Amino acid sequence: MSGSQSKQPSGGFGARLALYGAAALVACILGVTLSLLVFGENEPQRRGGPFTLTDQTGAVATEEIFNDKVSLLYFGFTHCPDVCPTDLLHTVSIREKIREDGNDAQIVFVSVDHERDTPEEMALYVEAFGDDLIGLTGTAEQIATAAKAYEAVYKKSPLADPEDPESYSIIHSTYLYAVGKDGKEVWRFPSGTPPDVASRRLIDIGAFN
Ligand code: NI
Repeated sequence: MSGSQSKQPSGGFGARLALYGAAALVACILGVTLSLLVFGENEPQRRGGPFTLTDQTGAVATEEIFNDKVSLLYFGFTHCPDVCPTDLLHTVSIREKIREDGNDAQIVFVSVDHERDTPEEMALYVEAFGDDLIGLTGTAEQIATAAKAYEAVYKKSPLADPEDPESYSIIHSTYLYAVGKDGKEVWRFPSGTPPDVASRRLIDIGAFN
């Protein structure tokens, strides 16, 4: 049975390839449309709220770190193998574009991994992305309070190795929140928003005024 199927003439293979290509394109367009509907840029909901965390120097940090500055806020964890590093690098690019456009923003990375992300871990991590990033961590409850304020979600995965209590990962939302000078969300960018688009959006909504 499978033997006859593998003897496709080359024309048939080409036609099938074209068909798969078309199907993939449709799926891709559908996927992008869906993800824009579900995960797209959101209208500002002015989310935010009080929290108490610890910064990478060990100092207490509250929602007051947002006072009088525009911030780019991301929730992730330092052991994240790919998504967080990619998104943080991208956030640095967005901040560069914001600066090129004559404005400024601070980058705040909040850990959703209270077990592994000590202030010392956070310091090593954020310093790898620049000398002025802010890394915040805390207890499970403190992190949950901060995440809830911005509707960031995360969930610990089962242990990959039952013998190793640290062999877990964490699934998390990947929004980049733009937080206004009053600590409230002014925009929510999906992961990978081009830097010029993000900078322009923040200018257009008056975030820097
Ligand atoms: Ni991550």
